[in-house]
Amino acid sequence: MVVGKGGVGKSTLTAMLARSMARLGAQVIAIDADEQRNLGATLGIDVASMARVVPLASSADYIEEKTGARPGEGSGAMLRLNPDTSDVVDRLAVSAPDGVRLLVMGGVQRAGGGCLCPENALLAAAIANMRLRQGEVVIMDTHAGVEHFGRALARGFDRALVVVEPTFNSVQVGLETARLAKELGIETIDLVVNQCRNDGDVARALSCVERLGGFEFSSITELPFDECVLVSEPSIGNLLDDSPLATALQSLSSVLLNKDPNVFASAEHMVVSH
Ligand SMILES: Nc1ncnc2c1ncn2[C@@H]1O[C@H](COP(=O)(O)OP(=O)(O)O)[C@@H](O)[C@H]1O
Ligand SMILES: [Mg+2]
Repeated sequence: MVVGKGGVGKSTLTAMLARSMARLGAQVIAIDADEQRNLGATLGIDVASMARVVPLASSADYIEEKTGARPGEGSGAMLRLNPDTSDVVDRLAVSAPDGVRLLVMGGVQRAGGGCLCPENALLAAAIANMRLRQGEVVIMDTHAGVEHFGRALARGFDRALVVVEPTFNSVQVGLETARLAKELGIETIDLVVNQCRNDGDVARALSCVERLGGFEFSSITELPFDECVLVSEPSIGNLLDDSPLATALQSLSSVLLNKDPNVFASAEHMVVSH
């Protein structure tokens, strides 16, 4: 899952990683868990197609079928709290370029705890069950933090990419999220310093980490500020074919894929570079 302060580049990087892992031969599911729902456009799905997408949290029939209650019927209704969501991608995902499938969550409000309405019970179950998907990479773009999903996240995801810019405020938000992810039991937490404009930027970000009490990240990746991103937005378009950002992201895509050898099962001609 990809976390960090608003505006640091989470959606851009989620979309680029999703499509680049798909190009490396992985079956990729991208999840948009940000209520602003711009991962689809960033992946390159056109506006008209995105307008027709029904987010999981608004799929009343699916929610009722799985939990036993329709949205709005929460209080007093009997809910199945651990519904079988293994078909959620086949039923609700839409196609994005390079064979990526996109699942839009919608309306995420503390899905892991507190409110026991049917839509939140289903969101939490869908997140928690993602780890069970065989031979697939599931990459999730989030709002800012991970608090909405609570413990469901740790059961569903084994890795958090904490994205920051070389600024104190974004590092502060990133660190809070990193600590929460660790507390929830996420095994591997990586730091991505995005939008670096000069040689000192990563060092500056790391010194902010130290000033804020430090954190043991599993890896640190530096990504450049890249004018091509602004020219191409809202979609990442052809950035993967030729851009400084894509080049810098290559090794991270390979590291992410290496984590799960099952992912390679279907890819015969894999080139992995470090
Ligand atoms: N490495 C980069 N170089 C230049 N612009 C970037 C880079 N990464 C992201 N951006 C731009 O920064 C803005 C915020 O990125 P976005 O991915 O929407 O952030 P988030 O999802 O974290 O809110 C967008 O306009 C995007 O095009
Ligand atoms: Mg975003």
